[in-house]
This record gives sequence, C-alpha cells and structure tokens, in this order.
Amino acid sequence: MNQDEQGRNLVLGGLMGTGKTTLARRLAMRLGRPWVDTDHAVEERAGCPVAEIFATGGEAAFREREAEVVADVARRGRHILALGGGVLLDPGNVTLLRANGVIVLLVGDPAVLAERASRAGVRKRPLLQGEPDVEGRLRRLAQERRAAYEQAADHVVDTTDGRSLDQLANDIVIWAAAQPGLLTDAERKAVAA
Ligand code: S3P
Repeated sequence: MNQDEQGRNLVLGGLMGTGKTTLARRLAMRLGRPWVDTDHAVEERAGCPVAEIFATGGEAAFREREAEVVADVARRGRHILALGGGVLLDPGNVTLLRANGVIVLLVGDPAVLAERASRAGVRKRPLLQGEPDVEGRLRRLAQERRAAYEQAADHVVDTTDGRSLDQLANDIVIWAAAQPGLLTDAERKAVAA
C-alpha cells in the first residue's frame, strides 16, 4: 500500500495549553486512527516523567529523547500525533514530520492557555515550574517561537476562539478532507456522510 492509500499523519503542534493532546484523542476517535503523544512516548521509553528527565539530565537530555521519538513516530502513516510544545523548534524534527504528514499549528490567547496549563498542573511542565506569571511566560514563549512555528505549519487553528472541542475537531476534519493524501478514501467518505 502506498502512502496516499494509507493516509498521511495528522500532526498537532503548538504551545503548552493549546489542547494538542485533548484534540488528538478526539480526532483519533472521530477518524478511527491510532494516536501518539510524544511526551507520553518519551515517558514510556524513559520510564519516568518529563519533569524528572529535565531535573536529572536537563532540557538537552529531554530534547534528545524527544527527537528519537519523533523520528520513530514520523515514519508511521495514518496516525494522529500530539507534539510536545518544543518539537517544532528543531528543523530536523519538522523535516521528518512533514515527509509523511501534515502539521496543524494550534494557537490561542495566552491568558486562556495559562489557565489551561495551570489547571493541568504546572508541576508536569518544567518550563512553567516555579513561574509566578504563567501567562507572561507563555506570551514570551509564543513570541520567541512564532517564526519557527509558523514556518512549520501547514494550517493554523485558534483553540481559544470559543469553539467547542467537537467544533474544533469537526473543522479540522473538514480541512483535512480537502488536503491531498491526508485522509484515506474511506475516511473521506465517512467524513462526508
Ligand atoms: C515543552 C512542552 C511540553 C513538554 C516539555 C517542553 C515545550 O509539552 O514537551 O515540558 O518546550 O513547550 P506540552 O506542550 O504537551 O505541554
């Protein structure tokens, strides 16, 4: 089966709190595809949480493990991938992901992202740990990362504009159906039904 018949990966990137994992799970259910979250995959391989990898080996150790996971998952077809927020900063990761997939960048109002990230617990997110102003930190990260994120993106979706999770998933699926080779014929028919 060639890649077009198999369907390409649908990849979700963007800052912490944009809803990559939640949306990936929903899209996977909607399309009947398997999904992978790169943070979860790193944790599974390392046998410890992301925060612990940062604490013991520093960010560089985490990025190395993350790139290994990306190299592995990017090769698969017909997956939904939720990326850790830093994945798209590495051009090597982006090249691998785009070779076999389409990248949707999730963006949003830093105030809402901060609220979501804080609700999920900043302890899990080393880049926010001990940060008294989570919103300000996310605002700065958004600025620093904007160019790399936008360069990697095939499509940009604001997840803080009032649409429900179902509406967001629906809009992404409709967009995906119009992208050559992203969905399989069967998936496209199911979306249209
Ligand atoms: C990071 C985001 C995190 C995780 C790590 C670093 C980043 O993932 O990979 O803490 O650099 O933005 P989420 O975006 O899923 O929180």
